[in-house]
Amino acid sequence: MSFAEPLAMDTYEENPHTGSFILIDRYSNQTVAAGLVWFGLRRAENVHWQAVDVDKAARAEQKGQKPRVLWFTGLSGSGKSTIANLVEKKLHGEGRHTYLLDGDNVRHGLNRDLGFTDVDRVENIRRIGEVSKLMADAGLIVLTAFISPYAAERRMVREMLEEGEFIEVYVDTPMEVCEARDVKGLYAKARAGKIENFTGIDAPYEEPVNPEIYVNTAKMSAEQASDLIVKALQERD
Ligand code: ADX
Repeated sequence: MSFAEPLAMDTYEENPHTGSFILIDRYSNQTVAAGLVWFGLRRAENVHWQAVDVDKAARAEQKGQKPRVLWFTGLSGSGKSTIANLVEKKLHGEGRHTYLLDGDNVRHGLNRDLGFTDVDRVENIRRIGEVSKLMADAGLIVLTAFISPYAAERRMVREMLEEGEFIEVYVDTPMEVCEARDVKGLYAKARAGKIENFTGIDAPYEEPVNPEIYVNTAKMSAEQASDLIVKALQERD
């Protein structure tokens, strides 16, 4: 476990009272877990944040832009990658410095060890969040295209970034449309029981409640959606 703030504790062996804990769900107030402290990692004492002179503001200023993370979320086949790609092309054409992180590509490299269980998806998004944060620190406009089905993980990434930096883009395409498109043939496989934990079939997708940008690709083309997103981004500058 890691915490945002230092925590006083003992090992359970030393003191059962200060070496044990419970976890309480902040919404329901129910106890959801109990644990014993085996040992502390002492990371707060031994791992320091190295200060550097060329900072985020300097890098962003050199690029003449505000670092942003455009976080595309939506079902498989909703059009996230296609639209993100068009948005990146337009931003690049305007001289912006961008980087596109795409689910299918990142899963070939950095996240090659992860599958599609809920635990793996949480870790997938945590790593992408950390990578996006580093890229925003480098002064870039980052675009990410991951299903990112859980609201809690999307919120976690939002909280990792500076105020206003995280821009959630909900690519809302009805499940029937995604399934009819079935560009990669994965819905057919999932229906045939050949893929487990498929989002929308036997794994959940939690819709964004208040996304900064909303596009419905059943009602507009990818080209129109990308124009709308670029415009919404410009309005925030
Ligand atoms: S996420 O849920 O962890 O955010 P991510 O965007 O990285 O997913 O990967 C989704 C892509 O992996 C899909 O577009 C699809 O091509 C492929 N895929 C393979 N198996 C699954 C599955 N069980 N559920 C969803 N997508 C899958």
